[in-house]
Amino acid sequence: MYMFKEGFLWGGATAANQFEGGWNADGKGVSISDMCTNGSRDEAKWFTQAIHADRLYPSHEASDFYHHYKEDIALLGEMGYKCFRLSIAWSRIFPTGMEETPNEAGLQFYDRVFDECIRYGIEPLVTISHYEMPFELARKNNGWLSRETIGCYVRYAEAILDRYHDKVKYWITFNEINCAQMLMGDIVATSMIRDFEGPIDTIRRTEQDRYQALHHQFVASARTVKYAHENYPECKMGNMTAFLAAYPGTCNPTDILTAQRFMQDDNWYCNDVQIKGEYPYFAERLWKEHQVSLSIEDGDLNILKEGTVDFTSFSYYMSVCVGESGEENSIGGNLTNGKKNPYLKASDWGWQIDPEGLRYALNETYDRYRIPVMVVENGLGAFDEIVDGRVHDIYRIDYMREHIRQMELATEDGVDLMGYTCWGCIDLVSATTGEMRKRYGQIFVDKYDDGTGSLERIRKDSFYWYQKVICSNGKEL
Ligand code: BG6
Repeated sequence: MYMFKEGFLWGGATAANQFEGGWNADGKGVSISDMCTNGSRDEAKWFTQAIHADRLYPSHEASDFYHHYKEDIALLGEMGYKCFRLSIAWSRIFPTGMEETPNEAGLQFYDRVFDECIRYGIEPLVTISHYEMPFELARKNNGWLSRETIGCYVRYAEAILDRYHDKVKYWITFNEINCAQMLMGDIVATSMIRDFEGPIDTIRRTEQDRYQALHHQFVASARTVKYAHENYPECKMGNMTAFLAAYPGTCNPTDILTAQRFMQDDNWYCNDVQIKGEYPYFAERLWKEHQVSLSIEDGDLNILKEGTVDFTSFSYYMSVCVGESGEENSIGGNLTNGKKNPYLKASDWGWQIDPEGLRYALNETYDRYRIPVMVVENGLGAFDEIVDGRVHDIYRIDYMREHIRQMELATEDGVDLMGYTCWGCIDLVSATTGEMRKRYGQIFVDKYDDGTGSLERIRKDSFYWYQKVICSNGKEL
């Protein structure tokens, strides 16, 4: 078997709004995720414009990393983690997003977190924006719809680069930036929440607005990458998408073309802009189909060229079938729908499990861009049960083993794979449903959907298994 390269970044990933808690501690401002209630697979969470006393807001405490970071990072260290992907809460640094200077107490929190990582030899990988924005800024500008948001983001990004460049080498500008294009992901990806209160699956923004908001994010990302390259050349800047492997439902040529278009629109559109520095050749066709007319200001296209990333990354959870045949919308992902693939099984939340799709995704991506690739999210959201103080999550081990095997094969194919950070390494709040019971971690957190729980951390069986995998650099699966 081929070995993963030396220095492979084995680890796990979290996001501030799903993990950190401390939602109003030490000067932190309210973020849009702090206005989201809990929900379930069948009942969408709500976005509210005020905090309602009779509702539960899971981000407020979440897994309380804010007060458990030492214990948590020690556990990651015990597993042998080489890399910990986490996001910074923008509203902890700039509470309303509009201040001129950052909140020192917020900066100090992440200093402590990164120092702790360094103590255990863990490389932090920072997502600058993971599905959140200060609520006041979102309200004023309707999220990313306004160009003004670009300047606010760049001020925030520069402040954290200035502060942490000697502690953090790897950066991602936006989580799953392509979700701005998808109807089910637009609210979290673009923060366009002004004047909306209700179930988040009923908020709908026009394609014109979503593509315009995305253009502003591209410009903000490129300006940040350029700033980092000019000032901190030792930092490696990356982009990230939610990779959706789309297979033709049949060998009908119409289905083949549908799948090709799906891949262009959902995967390559954003990657081309952030990796090649220009809108793809098919952009005009895409905009026309969606009746989008972008407002691109002088200098925007230059900045896109000047701010291309050093590595690319993606989350990978599932594949979908597209085309004329098959059951319509039978697969619900967190951000998209697709058709059922009779060869695959699905998780309890209906996500199709397709390890070979990961090898396919890695090869397709590397073939197109030839820069290092990293898998920064992957995992199985499942119900875990504590039996005699242990969690026997054999199903999670099986899932991870199969996906890691396919990464190994992709490496053998020749893909330059930098690392793997599985999602939600310590249990956290689900982004789609706001549930705690949809668990991904190797470490169980005693916290439940009704907000109760001691927050105690418990090592699952997958903890010991992943520890061996990392220690053997992927040989012992
Ligand atoms: C990704 C997001 O889309 O999927 C994460 O980047 C999210 O924030 C993850 O948590 C899993 O989705 P969910 O809905 O199961 O939490």
